[in-house]
Amino acid sequence: MEYAQRLENLPTYVFATIGKRIRAMQAEGRDVIRCDIGSPDMPPPETVVDALCHSANDPHRHGYASFYGSPPYRVAVADFYRARFGVELNPETQVLALIGSKEGIFHVPAAFVDPGTVVLVPDPGYPTYRNAVYLVGGELYRMPLLEENDWLPDLEAIPADVVARARVMWLNYPNNPTTAIAPLSFLERAVAFAREHNILLAYDNPYSEVTWDGYVAPSILQVEGAMDVAVEFNSFSKAYNMAGWRVGMVVGNQDVVAALARLKTNADTGIFQPIQDAAVVALRTDSGWLARRNKVYRERRQVVTQALERMGLSYTVSRATLYVWARLPQGTQSIAFASDLLGATGVSVSPGAAFGEYGEGYVRITLGHPAERLAEAMARWEKMAA
Ligand SMILES: Cc1ncc(COP(=O)(O)O)c(C=O)c1O
Repeated sequence: MEYAQRLENLPTYVFATIGKRIRAMQAEGRDVIRCDIGSPDMPPPETVVDALCHSANDPHRHGYASFYGSPPYRVAVADFYRARFGVELNPETQVLALIGSKEGIFHVPAAFVDPGTVVLVPDPGYPTYRNAVYLVGGELYRMPLLEENDWLPDLEAIPADVVARARVMWLNYPNNPTTAIAPLSFLERAVAFAREHNILLAYDNPYSEVTWDGYVAPSILQVEGAMDVAVEFNSFSKAYNMAGWRVGMVVGNQDVVAALARLKTNADTGIFQPIQDAAVVALRTDSGWLARRNKVYRERRQVVTQALERMGLSYTVSRATLYVWARLPQGTQSIAFASDLLGATGVSVSPGAAFGEYGEGYVRITLGHPAERLAEAMARWEKMAA
């Protein structure tokens, strides 16, 4: 079989590789605790599951759904953005349903990147921002996220010739994997930069509802002038514990939304209607449910950070996301460390290098297990480190 060169260029998705090794270990009877992939373990609100069942029982909800998202779905997204962020969206032209935000993120380069043009990606960052660029023959410019800069990229440090060829800039706060948050002033600078250089600002905001201790994450679209240059990706996966449902949205600049819609109408045929019906209910989840769920993450986080402290390891202090970003002892290679930890203890963490070269020296620990299970994972790690 001869494969296309573009497939050769596409790295295997890191969590698919880790998952394969874990399945082999589990087949041998090993008890593996997966703290690598960011999959919530708690259920969605009960009302959402009820809405899915109710809708699925309707014989008329099983045909092809709208390419763009059903009208009630898009209206519900617009209502959510108005209530939550004070952002006005036209549901018809500025809201598009996605099969999980990853699908839309992956399609951005196909719509906006030609060979010779550049995509600015945060490093460390979510791998899908980079991997789709390889497919279309675009170039990547990695914006380092450094601890000393509070994990924000230095936009002024991007060389002028790179900026001149840049078509897309990805930003993501609350950030995966560093767990950092960005002040609104940084988002304002980013919008001004994108406007000045005519770059699509693709803002990825799937952790906007996974916050605690009074922190309220903003939308990029709150920034004046953002609608001219920006779209925002958001998702039900982390916000409402619906990662397996595969439903999300892109909202914002209508030309960008239209371009992605044009791609999508060729690639897929909409999201199962009962999932959209249930997603509408999810968007109306009361803030009490979110607060209770987020409190659980906060408590779990402490289990992990206290163990890290006992081992003398530092981590990013955060009020958002379902991860802990921990720094390994000086000189430790993250991929070798994660592999050794998995082999020796059955605890799987994400090596920082999987998120980019500037993630080297760190690991990401996901809080997707009950506190006792996380305590068990950290106890095994501590035992190995002793
Ligand atoms: C930063 C970031 N963006 C996007 C996604 C994709 O989420 P979805 O489940 O909506 O495809 C993830 C999932 O882990 C993520 O961490």
